[in-house]
Parts: sequence; C-alpha cells; structure tokens
Amino acid sequence: MCGIFGYVGKKDPIKICIGGLKQLEYRGYDSAGIAGLYEGQIKSCKEAGKIASLEKKILSEGLKLDFAIGHTRWATHGKPTDQNAHPHFDEKSSLALVHNGIIENFSQLRDQLKSKNVRFTSETDTEVIAQLIGQFYRGDLLDAVQKTLPLLQGSFAIAIIHSNHPGQIVAAARESPLSIGYDDQHTESIVSSDPNAFLPSTSNVMFLRGDEIAQVEAGKISIFNSTLKPIEKKIEKLESNYQAPSKEGFEHFLIKEIYEQSSTIQKALLGRLNDESACIEFENFHFSDEYLKSIRNIWLLGCGTSSHAGWIGTMFFEDLSRVNASVEIASEARYRNPLLASDTLVIAISQSGETADTIAAMREAKRRGCSILGICNVVNSTLSREADSTIFLKAGPEMSVCSTKAFSSQVAVLALFALHIARLKGLSDGEMRKYFAHFRKISGSIQQVLEKSSLLQTIAKKYAKYNDFFFMGRRYMVPTCLEAALKLKEISYVNANGYPAGELKHGPIALICPNFPVVAFCSNDQTLDKIVSNLMEVKARGAPILAFAPEGLHSIIEIADDIFWLPESIDPFAPFASIVAGQLFAYYIAKDRGCDIDQPRNLAKSVTVE
Ligand code: M6R
Repeated sequence: MCGIFGYVGKKDPIKICIGGLKQLEYRGYDSAGIAGLYEGQIKSCKEAGKIASLEKKILSEGLKLDFAIGHTRWATHGKPTDQNAHPHFDEKSSLALVHNGIIENFSQLRDQLKSKNVRFTSETDTEVIAQLIGQFYRGDLLDAVQKTLPLLQGSFAIAIIHSNHPGQIVAAARESPLSIGYDDQHTESIVSSDPNAFLPSTSNVMFLRGDEIAQVEAGKISIFNSTLKPIEKKIEKLESNYQAPSKEGFEHFLIKEIYEQSSTIQKALLGRLNDESACIEFENFHFSDEYLKSIRNIWLLGCGTSSHAGWIGTMFFEDLSRVNASVEIASEARYRNPLLASDTLVIAISQSGETADTIAAMREAKRRGCSILGICNVVNSTLSREADSTIFLKAGPEMSVCSTKAFSSQVAVLALFALHIARLKGLSDGEMRKYFAHFRKISGSIQQVLEKSSLLQTIAKKYAKYNDFFFMGRRYMVPTCLEAALKLKEISYVNANGYPAGELKHGPIALICPNFPVVAFCSNDQTLDKIVSNLMEVKARGAPILAFAPEGLHSIIEIADDIFWLPESIDPFAPFASIVAGQLFAYYIAKDRGCDIDQPRNLAKSVTVE
C-alpha cells in the first residue's frame, strides 16, 4: 500500500508535500517521512505514526528543503518503526527513495548486496531498491534506475532524489499506480500515487506503467520506456472540483458518512431514472443495447465491502434481469482459470478504483476477452481508466477507512444496472415505474433509521461488553449481515461472524451460548418465517438476540431481547435501511470501546498491494 508524493516548483515543498501526503493517508498511516535537498545535501525527517506527528517533528527540527519527496506507509516488510519509515537511502546517503508496492525477491537481492558488504539499516524490501540504485550510480541517475528495475520482482511505484541532481525527481512504476502532473504555466511538477492529491493548479496528468521512467523537473517532464528510449505519453486534463474534506461538525468522518447516505443515494440515482421513457440512463456509457441484451453471464469482482455489494448484485441480476451472475473475491479470481466467454460481462466494483487485486482480476478478465464495466467512486482512478465503461457512484470522497456510503451507492448502482438490462429484455413501462417508486423511497427509509440513531446508541452500549458476535440473515440479508459484521470487526476490533441463517445447524450453532450475542437481519419477506424459526433455536440456547426486523413482524417480540424496527421494503431494496442500522450499531460500539474509528489499526483505505 503506501502513498508517495513529490514536489518540484517555487512553492514551499515541505508544506505541499505534507498536504499531499495527508490526501494519501488513506493508503496507510503506520509511519510517514519526507526527504529533499538543501544546500546540496540530502536532508530528511521520518518517524512511526501519522502525518500529524511528522509535521510536528519537521517543525521542531526546523527542516528546510528545496524540493521534496514524501511517503505515508502501510507496513508490509518490517514493523512500523522510525527505522523502517520511508524514505530509504543508499549507503552513502546520497540518494533517497520512497516506494509503494512489494518487492517479492527482496531477500535474495539483500543477500547479494550483503555479500558485497552493503550495510542495511531497515527491515524493508524498499531499502534494496535504494541500495541497488546506489550501486549502479555512476553520475547518471536515470541509467542507475534503468539498470535496477529489471532485477526487481513484484510491484512498485518509486520516486528518487539524488544529491548530484538538484531540482530533479526520478520516478518509475510497474503495476502500482503513479501519476505525474504539471501546471499550465510549466512552473511546477508533482509525482503522486493518486492524482486526486494534486494541487488545484496541476491540471495536466500522465500515468506511468510497465517500468516506464520519468525525469521530473519544475514544469518539465520527460518519459522513457524500460530501455530509456524517450516516449510520448498521453497528457490528460485533470478535472478537479476538489474541496477539502471536512467533518462538518460530526465527531468522526465515519458518522458523517453514515449520515450522508440519505443524500448520496439520491446522487447515485440523479439523472438516471427517466420517468418519461421509463428507462434507466447512465452518462458516458459505452455499452450498446445489443451487447447488453446478448450477455449470458455476469461475473462481479471486488474485495471486502465491494464484494458484499457484488453479492447483492448477483441477486439483482438473477431476480430482476434474469441473467446468471456470480460474485468472486478478486484476490481469488485473479488466480483462477475461469471459463469466460465473450457473452460474460465482468463488473469490477471498487470505491477507490485502486485495489490491487480487483485491478489485477479485471485485467486478467480483459485479457481473456471479456468486456469490463467499472462501478467506482473515484474519478481518474486506475479502474475507471481501464474499464470499458464506468458507472460512477457520485458519493463524494469517502474519508473513513471503513466504507459505508460507498456500499449503499454501489448497491444502488447495481440495482439500476440490473433494471437497465431487465428493461432491454422487455420489462414493461408499468413494472419499471413501480421500481422507480421503490428507488425513490430508499432515501426516506435511510432517513428513518438515522432519526432513531440514539436508540441504536443505547442498544450498542448494552452489547459493547461482548467480544464475539454472530450475525445472520437470509437471501438479501446474507451479504448485508456479512457487511454489518465486517463494520464491527474493523472499527471495534470485535470478533463478528456473518452467516446465512440456514447454515446455523450445520456447525456454528455449537458456538451459541449466553455470552455470544446473535444479531439477526430479518428484512427479507420471502424467508421471514424461516429466520424466526432460526432465532427460536438460538433463544433455546440462551444467546442474547438483537433483531433488525421489519415493522410488523410481531412474532419477533417474544423472541428477541432487543429489536430495532426497520421500514418496510421490497426484498431487493431491504439492504439499504438494514445496513445503515448495522453501520450505526458498529459505530456506537466502537465509540463505547474507545477505538480509533476513522483510522482503525492495521488498515488502509486503499489496498494497493496484493
Ligand atoms: O476501494 P475498494 O472498494 O476496492 O476497497 C475494497 C476493500 O478494501 C474495502 O471495501 C474494505 O473492505 C473496507 N475497509 C471495508 O470497510
């Protein structure tokens, strides 16, 4: 994972770099560091912890730099210590390097270097890159980088500075994303893991791939291929309507984002329900109606929360569009040997659009001849650039590592797309309009849940003492309960297992006992009686029961210890209100337990290594 950032130009490089790194902190926050040149020498400052503490250290040390590279780390190789924080250096400390990715053969390379008496100061895979470049350096930094890259196995985006090359950053990338930008006046340049961290003035952007190497100076960028032959890169115009993220009075980004969902759902639907034609429309959509009608299979790819949204999507395609669909966790999909024909549409789902496994699985499916539809929140992301067409969530930046509003918007977009196919296959005007009415009720039902959040806070207080939970549901509530359990795990550090309720008797019921609460998501009309019976079985074994139940389910009153009533909904749209209730439950438990809610331990917002 990790975020790398570099700045060459007239502005204060430290300030710009720290600002850029803060935008990239979603990629990891185990340590942070910065390096640059001052009076002809490499100077640096780095330490374990978040960027805010690096900022203080820089101030206290009075660091000054002429230009700079910086890094925010999610630890892969080596603990999150000061020593392992980037930048890393060659033996002579004449070059500094920051890296995002994983060097898979680092241990062999390190042994080879050690046999030449090269001394290492960290446990990282990154340091071997710095040391190798240092070994190859004979006055030409580009040449030393070019000689190093073929020796590396794995993925990387790197930025390097050298004391003999003032005002110059050399950058290179293979698989890990790296964007390079400059302003219209050609006065400054930026290197960043994500172009959304550029300054508003940096509107020209290019993306490095496949061992390409860039020489970056203020407002001037030269790109070379892996043999150092100069190449022309496509320059893209970056449209930025960036606004600094704010908690807007909420205590955490997470709770702000949970609350935003009544409006982000509306944004996901905005302009897409055409009442006149009873059709669904997507902007800049590149798939023809003929192609969509010819699809026989849909393969949905995603990781974590996005895979849960994909699972709900499979039910939409089966129930609404009558097309076979399956969801695959992208880290598994990328190593499978699937039978994908040209009538299989692959849908890659990702909030960030930078998840390494999702991108790798998508590329593999593309290589096998499938068309790719992206469902993504971040414009300009790798996924959105590589998919044949992308439907954006329009949910706005999701700052909390724990994904909430992206999930509900992903589910909404999947429902829209499933209905779009259904319409192409002949669903009537009347049926379409009925669904339109249901779509328009989602925001209100989310709002109803939000208005009762204090009740969930009280319930959460009662359950915050438990360390193990069992979440269950049926049909649409299976991925919903898995998602709710994931929320609890990641922000409260509490063990929460999600299961289809029908599986209870096939093993997990052995766990049920009085200090193992069961959280049941009941809002699926088709299987209501079934889940009620499952809860009776749980009650007989003495477990405390919290039920998220649809209004009117009277039979639950005698069974559950606590009930949170949810607005009525058709089964396919029940996940919306249910998950918001589940998110609030997780939030209040995490708050009660005093956890770091927006930046939970060991996590990163965007998982850019596999
Ligand atoms: O950006 P993506 O949607 O591709 O991210 C996928 C997962 O890493 C992400 O959903 C993760 O599971 C979240 N932390 C869950 O809250």
